[in-house]
Amino acid sequence: DVDKSELFKPEIREAIDAHIAKYPPEWKQSAVMPALSIVQDANGGWLTTELMDDVAAYLDMPAVSVYEVATFYGMYDLEPQGRHKVCVCNSISCMLNGSEELIEHVEHKYGVKVGETTADGRFTLKEVECLGACRDAPAVLLDKVYHEKLTPEALDKLIDGLE
Ligand code: FES
Repeated sequence: DVDKSELFKPEIREAIDAHIAKYPPEWKQSAVMPALSIVQDANGGWLTTELMDDVAAYLDMPAVSVYEVATFYGMYDLEPQGRHKVCVCNSISCMLNGSEELIEHVEHKYGVKVGETTADGRFTLKEVECLGACRDAPAVLLDKVYHEKLTPEALDKLIDGLE
C-alpha cells in the first residue's frame, strides 16, 4: 500500500522531486542515489525492500536496478542501524595511517564488531571504502561529517559526544 509508505509522505516526495527536477524528464532515474539517501534518512538510516521498491516505482525504473545501487555503495544500509553511524575508511592510505587501530580500538572499547550496533543502540560501526580524504588519513565519516587525522583518543571524544 503506497499510501502507508514513508516515500509518499509529502515532504519526502518533495525532496526527491527537487532532485528529479535537475534532470530532463526522461532521465529521472538519475535521481536514484539522492532518492535512496532521502528515504534512508527518513527511515532511521536503513532501507527496506519495500522502500527500494517504492523508489523504483517513483523513478520508473526496475527494482533490481535500485537494489544494485543500494548494495554497491557503502552509504546505503539494508539492515537496522544504530542512532549514529561511525564509518571508518579502511582503504590503503587510511590503513597505512592507522585505520585498523581505530577499528580495533572501537571494537574493543565499545564491544562491537564491524557491521554491528552497540547494545544501547548508540552507533553502528562500519568499515567503508576511500572517503576521498586520503591526504588527511585516517578518515572517519560520523553520520555525515568528515573527521580526519584521527587518533583513537580523538575518535573516543567524538563517540562520547553522541547521544
Ligand atoms: Fe581513506 Fe582515501 S584511503 S580517505
